Amino acid sequence: MSSSITVQSDQVLERVLSIEIVRVTERAAVSAARLRGHGRDKASDQAAVDAMRRELNKLPIDGTVVIGEGEIDEAPMLFIGEKVGNKHGARVDIAVDPLEGTVLCAKNMPGAIATIAMADAGTLLHAPDCYMEKIAIGPGYPKGTIDLDAPADENIMNLAKAKGVKPSEITAILLDRPRHTHAIELIRKTGAAVSLISDGDVAGVIHCAEPKTGIDIYLGIGGAPEGVLAAAALRCIGGQMQCRLVIDSEELRERTKKMGIKDPKKKYEIEDMVRGDCLFAATGVTTGAMLNGVKFSKNLIETETVVMRSVTGTVRRIVAEHRQLDKFHLD
Ligand code: FBP
Repeated sequence: MSSSITVQSDQVLERVLSIEIVRVTERAAVSAARLRGHGRDKASDQAAVDAMRRELNKLPIDGTVVIGEGEIDEAPMLFIGEKVGNKHGARVDIAVDPLEGTVLCAKNMPGAIATIAMADAGTLLHAPDCYMEKIAIGPGYPKGTIDLDAPADENIMNLAKAKGVKPSEITAILLDRPRHTHAIELIRKTGAAVSLISDGDVAGVIHCAEPKTGIDIYLGIGGAPEGVLAAAALRCIGGQMQCRLVIDSEELRERTKKMGIKDPKKKYEIEDMVRGDCLFAATGVTTGAMLNGVKFSKNLIETETVVMRSVTGTVRRIVAEHRQLDKFHLD
């Protein structure tokens, strides 16, 4: 019997895919970045969608988009249920946000990214494009340190205790929205700092697991698709997250039911949103705290991508110099 290490074929495939999906977000980011600062949010989003779809269709996967740009009648591409890939490969669920932070890109503000998560078929939450309550912290804390149903100040106090610091040494990140006024007040009363972002809460959640950002906790309401993507990232790098869909109309209730969600009030843990191993990748469109944006020069396009794999917890940062610019001119 051979003593060489045998690797199961699905693992080989997944390892290959963790590099292959980098091309997908790179292309989407470059296409969107060409329209940075042009004030054309829909056009930059469409450019990212087109590029991402083209690249996804080259991958050796039999993929289904479960988190996408909307449902079939409202999204021309990368709609929920769309089949992608060359069909010669693993059956996978795919969550995409080809341009997370469309307004950030349109205004050329920090933090726009192109992002994707991939997992075995049937393991990603099929969430409608609605709002979601979310709370998240990084790794290393006892389970139960945070609770979506507890008031914001209680969560800050519990986190400070678990971290062994005063609440004044905690920084919370929230989307800058009027709906968060009360939570912000409660957080500030504990002495904790509040860091407000105008958009982009996939990165907002990931910041909690990146000590260099100084962010300890994410709180508030953002998009459900972004919630599933962020959960995939935390599944790879560790951390805790709880979420609940915000179902505030009969129409949405119906849509949610059709997507197979039996309990619309369910409190989701990471493992409920990403039920198995996954890959997560994001490429910077505009420079932000997590990634550098696309740099264009005469003979070169430079991109920065972070790609994570839950099986090993490996995080790779890939700075790519693209020289075959004619390929990108197709985008
Ligand atoms: P888009 O790029 O899809 O516009 O999302 C940006 C974003 O800021 C998300 O990161 C966030 O989850 C969501 O919008 C919040 O929604 P709203 O702007 O309606 O508060």
